[in-house]
Amino acid sequence: MASFISYRSISEFFGFIFIVMNQDLIIRLFRSIEGDMDDDLIKVAKKIIESEKTIGHKKLAGKLKGILDENIAGHMSFKKELKTLLPEGTIIPTDRRHNIPLATLINTEHLRHEMILPKSVEANFQRIEKEYVARERLAHFGLKPRKKILFYGAPGCGKSMGAERIAWNIGLPFLKVRFEAIMSSYLGESANNLKRLFESIKNYPCVLLLDEFDFLAKARSVGQDVGEMHRMVNILLNLLEDYDAPGLLIATTNLEGTIDKALFRRFDDIIEIPKPGKEEIVKLLRGTLSSIDTSNDIEWDRFAETMDGFSAALVVKVANDAAKTAVIQSSKVISKGHIEKALNENFNYNK
Ligand SMILES: Nc1ncnc2c1ncn2[C@@H]1O[C@H](COP(=O)(O)OP(=O)(O)O)[C@@H](O)[C@H]1O
Ligand SMILES: [Mg+2]
Repeated sequence: MASFISYRSISEFFGFIFIVMNQDLIIRLFRSIEGDMDDDLIKVAKKIIESEKTIGHKKLAGKLKGILDENIAGHMSFKKELKTLLPEGTIIPTDRRHNIPLATLINTEHLRHEMILPKSVEANFQRIEKEYVARERLAHFGLKPRKKILFYGAPGCGKSMGAERIAWNIGLPFLKVRFEAIMSSYLGESANNLKRLFESIKNYPCVLLLDEFDFLAKARSVGQDVGEMHRMVNILLNLLEDYDAPGLLIATTNLEGTIDKALFRRFDDIIEIPKPGKEEIVKLLRGTLSSIDTSNDIEWDRFAETMDGFSAALVVKVANDAAKTAVIQSSKVISKGHIEKALNENFNYNK
């Protein structure tokens, strides 16, 4: 509790609320109280429980005590987690209700990183990586590296993978936000979860991925409390604004059009990751098939033309399917026929 609010003023405030509130409201209020044993707010809450008991509301007092004890325990364990977070960063805050970690940590060596990108996009990626590596030199001149990045574009073209590749290249651990854990069923807790997560990485160098963060737009349509979603957007805006951790923050979205303009403004760099062009399709095919010999008569360019409009993920799938057929048939090389077959089978997934 902020120190400028005195114990007395809190007591008076709660005394007043206490008189005008019904039991439901008191219970809801108690759910949002958290802190250490000796915080003023907790002391006041205990006083309220005592006086409820005195006037004969034993059931309510018991309920309030249960809520308070649970919140104190949650707060203490969160503080403990924060202490152990640094420097290995293996412990991440959890959702208080279900104890699910609010983010998943992926160690650098497990990250996907061999990407094929058009030259201009590759240059944008490299600029982010170079600026991060040169962050101390930049700081001498009062300059800051690009830290808050947004990737947008069609599904399966490397948005999530791009975040992993950047983490891999700059050697940072990778932390992927778990929105299903963030979206708590406790009123007000979702926004709080997000705050706790950002707080926990304040001094921890990592790449924080907010993958498909347009969940905010989607969640509204699947019945999440509108007020709560509104709060979440505002909290996210503030957290993005204030983000100044030693790592990078990367957000991704498929739905560029539905993202709040105010959110867009918060990023240092916004990069479109397009579908692969002809050149990239050939590289994706050949790269995926690099561990098996391919027949000399394969017309890569022709295949690339046929696959125009495919996502990178689908091109990789076609190549993998062709390779699997070849291996199962015990063929020594991948033939034109293998690729054609895979292509025909996957054609319907396109567009
Ligand atoms: N640019 C790319 N280079 C190489 N492989 C890619 C690329 N984009 C996508 N892939 C393949 O597609 C899969 C899915 O990509 P992903 O990054 O999850 O797509 P999304 O844009 O939907 O986040 C990856 O695991 C990888 O196999
Ligand atoms: Mg993705």
